[in-house]
Amino acid sequence: MNCNGGSLGSYTESLGIEVIRRYVQQFLEERDGIPSDYRDIILTTGATQGIKSILQLLNCPVDNKKTGIMVPIPQYPLYSATAVEQGMHLISYFLEEETNWGLNINELKRAIDEAKEVCIPRAIVIINPGNPTGQVLTRANMEEIIKFAYEENLLILADEVYQHNVYEDGIEFHSFKKVLVEMGGPYKNMALASFMSCSKGYTGECGLRGGLVEIFNFPADFKAMFYKNLSAQLCPNTVGQAAIFCLVNPPREGEPSYELFMEEKAQRAQLVHKVLNSFEGFSCTVIQDSMYAFPQFKLPPKVIELANECGMSPDQFYAFDLLENTANLEDANVITAYDVYFDAILSDVI
Ligand SMILES: Cc1ncc(COP(=O)(O)O)c(C=O)c1O
Repeated sequence: MNCNGGSLGSYTESLGIEVIRRYVQQFLEERDGIPSDYRDIILTTGATQGIKSILQLLNCPVDNKKTGIMVPIPQYPLYSATAVEQGMHLISYFLEEETNWGLNINELKRAIDEAKEVCIPRAIVIINPGNPTGQVLTRANMEEIIKFAYEENLLILADEVYQHNVYEDGIEFHSFKKVLVEMGGPYKNMALASFMSCSKGYTGECGLRGGLVEIFNFPADFKAMFYKNLSAQLCPNTVGQAAIFCLVNPPREGEPSYELFMEEKAQRAQLVHKVLNSFEGFSCTVIQDSMYAFPQFKLPPKVIELANECGMSPDQFYAFDLLENTANLEDANVITAYDVYFDAILSDVI
């Protein structure tokens, strides 16, 4: 009824179907306990479209100095690829493994001070929960980051697409918007964009390309340009918008599908480690946050012997074997010492 012509096949408003944006508003208000406004919520074709559009708008070289974007390392490559594509300067900051991949403010300062010679830093990307590191930032660390962004006058790009992938007891996801509003003072007026997606979490419907961005405290002229940019892209994919509707509007307690929904949600969270643990020789701990499992497997002594004969480490040997068995290498014309041993190994091991 809220689609033009009553069909998902029609164009929608460029910012997304209004009733879905209102449901997103309700979801965000329940999540954060602070007001939200559907007019600042934009549905996008995957989080990717929103991220790319905002990065593109930030790109404004001055006096031959490129726009600088702070991006974590390790990172999700969308950011470096877009920065390169747009001719922006990537300001890499290293996450700190010792503090469970938190952000060290001295490292942020080092990165930005070095970069200021060649660029004008305009934004900091924070991926929380992290990809590929899987960490959930502590609230104290988030407050430090917000203070740093305030001092350096940076737009915060909060990539929060993994917010539903938090499984560890005692670990809680806080949105950057909630934290900066609760910090009060000048921080609550800082500009921020927060991204969410139906590609992750219990939905995991990445092919439907549903995403959204909530913008907060965006200056009016920047917002106007953003809307123009989105209008020129017509509208976000409608099936993705419908998926976002489902994500923000799950069955509630007391509703007929609630029990089944909760059961299936729990099953999805456990699916990967359960399947991995069912393989002979594999062990995998329960996934804590984000989407990544780190399985361990023990190769039989005979395989290790064969790897040694090939002059390979056992894990290298395994990786090649996996490639040989799963990739189509017919055209690759790769002939290595490994190939010579391959048939022998198979007949020997199996
Ligand atoms: C950190 C991060 N941000 C954004 C995306 C892109 O999400 P979407 O599929 O909604 O475009 C991904 C996808 O893997 C991701 O890992």
